Amino acid sequence: MTQRRRSGECAVYVAAIFALAACGDAPKADPENAAQVAQGLRVYTANCASCHGVKLEGQPNWRDRLATGRLPAPPHDPSGHTWHHSDALLFSMTKNGMEPHAPPNYNSDMPAFGDRLSDADIWAVLAYIKSTWPEETREAQAAVMREEARARK
Ligand code: HEC
Repeated sequence: MTQRRRSGECAVYVAAIFALAACGDAPKADPENAAQVAQGLRVYTANCASCHGVKLEGQPNWRDRLATGRLPAPPHDPSGHTWHHSDALLFSMTKNGMEPHAPPNYNSDMPAFGDRLSDADIWAVLAYIKSTWPEETREAQAAVMREEARARK
């Protein structure tokens, strides 16, 4: 009996794997991947929490420019606008900094991490950030990515 149920579950898993392979689109930042999320938490604590907050709450009054004219670090929780961006854009902003994604001569306090973190570390930190979001926020970001994929076609 138990045996039969197990093999039934197995068929479901196998089907899920084929479905992923067929789409060719397994997420590189996967909030359901516990090992990747744990790696991401370590990366976040060591590299991001000092500015973006231990609870991803961002810096105080993050919408108001500092005396330098630059913006404070926004939250990565659902109150910020991280979820307005695709995984690919978040990856690039983390790896390359804000300048490539901003108007000419834009100055930002967000460091580029390309010389300090591996690509795997950057995908992991994004998986961690996404793992803290409730389902509705993840779905809202997924909708942004679906929209971008449609626009590329
Ligand atoms: C020295 C402070 C500092 C550190 C450390 C830092 N950030 Fe930032 N980050 C910022 C600031 C400031 C901004 C806003 C920049 C702007 O808009 O000009 C920002 C913006 C971002 C954005 C864009 C968010 C959006 O909604 O537009 C992402 C993504 C991001 N940071 C990810 C990270 C990650 C991941 C780490 C750790 C690997 C990290 N940051 C570490 C200061 C920091």
